[in-house]
Amino acid sequence: MTAPPSTSCDALVIGAGAAGLMCALTAGQRGLRVRVLDHANKVGKKILMSGGGRCNFTNTGTTPANYLSANPHFCKSALARYTPWHFIELVERHGIAYHEKELGQLFCDESSKQIVAMLLAECAAAGVEIRTHCAIERVEHTDAGRFRLHTAQGRFEAPSLVVASGGLSIPSMGASGFGYTLARQFGHAVLPTRAGLVPLTLSGKHAERLHDLAGVALPVEARCNGMAFRSFLLVTHRGISGPAILQISNYWQPGDDLRLDLLPGQDAEALLREWQHARRDAELKTLLAEVLPKRFAQRLCEHWIASKPLRQYTPRELEGIAALLRDWPLVASGTEGYRTAEVTLGGVDTDGLSSSTMMSRHVPGLHFIGEVVDVTGWLGGYNFQWAWASGHAAGHAL
Ligand code: FDA
Repeated sequence: MTAPPSTSCDALVIGAGAAGLMCALTAGQRGLRVRVLDHANKVGKKILMSGGGRCNFTNTGTTPANYLSANPHFCKSALARYTPWHFIELVERHGIAYHEKELGQLFCDESSKQIVAMLLAECAAAGVEIRTHCAIERVEHTDAGRFRLHTAQGRFEAPSLVVASGGLSIPSMGASGFGYTLARQFGHAVLPTRAGLVPLTLSGKHAERLHDLAGVALPVEARCNGMAFRSFLLVTHRGISGPAILQISNYWQPGDDLRLDLLPGQDAEALLREWQHARRDAELKTLLAEVLPKRFAQRLCEHWIASKPLRQYTPRELEGIAALLRDWPLVASGTEGYRTAEVTLGGVDTDGLSSSTMMSRHVPGLHFIGEVVDVTGWLGGYNFQWAWASGHAAGHAL
């Protein structure tokens, strides 16, 4: 029996997420015949769920310093050639209203559905064909140097293949390790992956002491491995979350020292001295409840700090309390894992890729873009900006 004929085009893109759609529309606008294949039942699922349904689609303060990668220089070229302002121009052209939340983070006023609709409209205008429910069974590299994909919807062939299948986070949304398997098949190194922008879990004493405070939030500065993020911490049933913790989780690994400044921006020692002077008879836990959530302050004083009237503390004791408030050591036991992680750290080693085209250094025509690559951004729109920028770089080079 002869195999069914392959359907041919100029480029095949695996993954109709942020990076894949941007790459496809860019290449389509240049006149290439592009086909995007996705195994999920609809496109852009992560865009839809992002930013609480409003998609934090970029960050106007994006710089290469906002990314983690074994090669911190790799992201520079693509980010410089497709900036947040390029994406903002596209958003404005489609009449999508947006606002800045904080620190350059831009969100849709209405819905992240508008971003998906915009990308689909651009793809349609550029003649891009998108197929969902298209599981890929096998990828072959033919003697003629073409890529042949065996899929649930038949065979597809093209001289260029773009892998935009994302990372491992949120498997229920269609995430798979497919891109890594494919990279290895073509001789690419894949750096160890782990969950990023993810809540941390606590165990033992810390868990026992804090779990019933779930829902309590406070501003902190979270510090680990030389990095510091100032934002909110949220106590959860199993540990800690909130933007400060999600940010620092990218830099934390089991066993690493994690410290929290519970009074960020305040001089704890000066505050305690002032209290000792002006409010001598007040108990420390009462005063701490004025600058921290009440239940949290009480819990601190049950387990970490001995509370008594301020006049009874020696200067040395006050110094110790200030040091603890400034540098509270919290022992995290792990992360909530890919089930809730926003991103995957690690991935396809950038050493094997061109930073200007995202093309494989040893397999001409093969490209890797977006989250599957070992480039991971901070929380705040940086990951989508990498998806747009790397997708644009590949789309221009196909
Ligand atoms: P993405 O995961 O978007 O797309 C990959 C596509 O490939 C999917 O459509 C998938 O179905 C498909 N696929 C996978 N395996 C396949 C296979 N074997 N065959 C065929 N298709 C396959 N970032 C940000 O900047 N701002 C934000 O507000 C948020 N918010 C946010 C919330 C949540 C809950 C999550 C989980 C993540 C975010 N992010 C974010 C991160 C952001 O969503 C992420 O960095 C990008 O979606 C990555 O884009 P990619 O196109 O690389 O992968």
